[in-house]
Amino acid sequence: MTTQTPESAGIVDPSAVLDERFKDAISSVLPDLPREQIQTHITPSRQPKFGDFQSNCAMPLAKRFGMQPRELAAKVIEAIDVTGIAEPMNESSIAGPGFINITLLPSAISDALGSLDTPQLGITPPDSPPTVVVDLCGVNLAKQMHVGHLRSTVIGDAIARLYERMGYKVIRQSHVGDWGLPIAMVVQKLIEREDAGLDLQTVTLAQLNTMYKQAQSECKAETKAVQLLEKVGGHPKAMAELELRIENANEHMERAKSRLVALQSGDSESVRVWQRIYDITMSACLHTCARLHANVTDEHSAGESTYRDELGSVVQDLIDRKIAEEDDGALVVKCDGIKEPTIIRKRDGGYLYATTDMAAIKRRVGTLGGDIVVYCVDSRQSLHFKQVFAAAHKAGYDKASDGHDASLVHAMFGTILGEDGKPLKSRSGENLNLSDLLDEAVSRAEATLSERSPDITGDERHQIAEAVAMAAVKYTDLAIERVKDYIFSFDRMLAFEGDTGPYLLYALVRIRSIFRKAQEAGIDTGAIESAPFDLREPSEKALALKLLRYPSVVEGASLNHEPNRMCAYAYELASGFSSFFDQCPVLKNDDDSLRASRLRLCALTGRVLEDALQTLGIPTVDRM
Ligand code: ARG
Repeated sequence: MTTQTPESAGIVDPSAVLDERFKDAISSVLPDLPREQIQTHITPSRQPKFGDFQSNCAMPLAKRFGMQPRELAAKVIEAIDVTGIAEPMNESSIAGPGFINITLLPSAISDALGSLDTPQLGITPPDSPPTVVVDLCGVNLAKQMHVGHLRSTVIGDAIARLYERMGYKVIRQSHVGDWGLPIAMVVQKLIEREDAGLDLQTVTLAQLNTMYKQAQSECKAETKAVQLLEKVGGHPKAMAELELRIENANEHMERAKSRLVALQSGDSESVRVWQRIYDITMSACLHTCARLHANVTDEHSAGESTYRDELGSVVQDLIDRKIAEEDDGALVVKCDGIKEPTIIRKRDGGYLYATTDMAAIKRRVGTLGGDIVVYCVDSRQSLHFKQVFAAAHKAGYDKASDGHDASLVHAMFGTILGEDGKPLKSRSGENLNLSDLLDEAVSRAEATLSERSPDITGDERHQIAEAVAMAAVKYTDLAIERVKDYIFSFDRMLAFEGDTGPYLLYALVRIRSIFRKAQEAGIDTGAIESAPFDLREPSEKALALKLLRYPSVVEGASLNHEPNRMCAYAYELASGFSSFFDQCPVLKNDDDSLRASRLRLCALTGRVLEDALQTLGIPTVDRM
């Protein structure tokens, strides 16, 4: 039997200790039940009057073994050893149909808090950390970042940070859409414009964006319209006009296609222009990433173009090993359980988005050593990833060097909607440009700040507004369950009260100001680091229990790729702190040791909150 206490084991989470103790007890009551099958169902109590935790193990177990739940609960209680962790249990610990209420020993909570109060905040990195590849951002050349890329960047970066916080090795990869026909169209267009006198050095991303659209529409032949007109007998003049347009479009398309061939074969003129488009797009994109406090830089760019020399051999390999087969002129991989085969080569010999993603899996697992590859991409691409994952598995591209299968995860996200419930667009109905959106958030935050804190002015106010706005936008995007759509509302996300980014920043500012005030009042805060925790009031105990959950929240949020769990936790912690601070005098306390204990609790809360925000990639401020 284990007699671990939180302190002896350096364990922060009392529920982990309880879990072991309950398993011991259940094993002795039900010796035939294999230990690994035991589920203790320990959760925080809904109401403090029932204790701190409860175990709901008795009901399912009793059902399985044909017993009375309360009777089984009584046996478990009799067998359990709660030395050093919880108050002794008796008949009155059993409630309702068989819930077992648990009240922790005050010393167990203080000990556990002591274990949490270390530089690592109770999170121990694994001995041999797995490698995680995170696919994030993934902008497209010649296009401005739109709100869809906000989610891929912000959530992807948070997932990467969560794994980093766990001590895993993280490799970020931005799968930039920088190759293929649409890009060749823009290259062609720019070369034509250059011939007409355009200076490539002065071109902006906004201009590229416009040219991208023009190129798209110029190459689009309205063949369907002519067919329709032919059928219904359209006016000869209209027909002739349309036919001319089609001819024109076909010419544009031909030129774009030859440009693609030139680009693919390394023609220096084409490559020079392509490189310029790349540089213009990426410098704007990386600037926005930096502004968003997302760690996405040049070294994380692994665009589609970087796979260009690998596609041929991937396809050949799939043919040689009979993984791929011909289907109506195209080359496809058919996988069990997926209706639509994965097309890896078109009838005209061209490669596709899926071909590149096959090569990417090969590189990410085979070369980069990924044990987990997480794709933070819109849920509308879910079929694509299902197909590609299945095809890669069939080909064995997901096999790591030690022979185990890497796990490929599509951490998909929903759509950002406008107030009308449709995907968020600009007033003119186009994709909303991300940096315009961020600018508006900043100017709104600045307006609120000047109203609330007139003493903050000038540059400082602008800097604080920038951080508050990023925190607001990011927190909203991270706090919602990833797969859900949400309605974008500046008013809601920028509010200083409620479940918002600004509220959390404000909570941290308040905690920091306690220490400033302590200094002003001449209170010695130097000794608090080792002050014994003395938890007297229910609200301070509640805060302590919230703090102790931190390591397991970080773990749950990262392994499930759900930053929203961290957000929910941060909000709960900030609210818990607020109740504690309302109810428990800290600086105004004459009892020196109680004051030291409470100051230490404040400091620890501040550190955990700061760590949580940092792990989510949310910037903080010193005042607001
Ligand atoms: N460029 C793509 C888009 O904007 C996203 C890339 C996602 N990553 C991937 N490996 N396919 O839709």
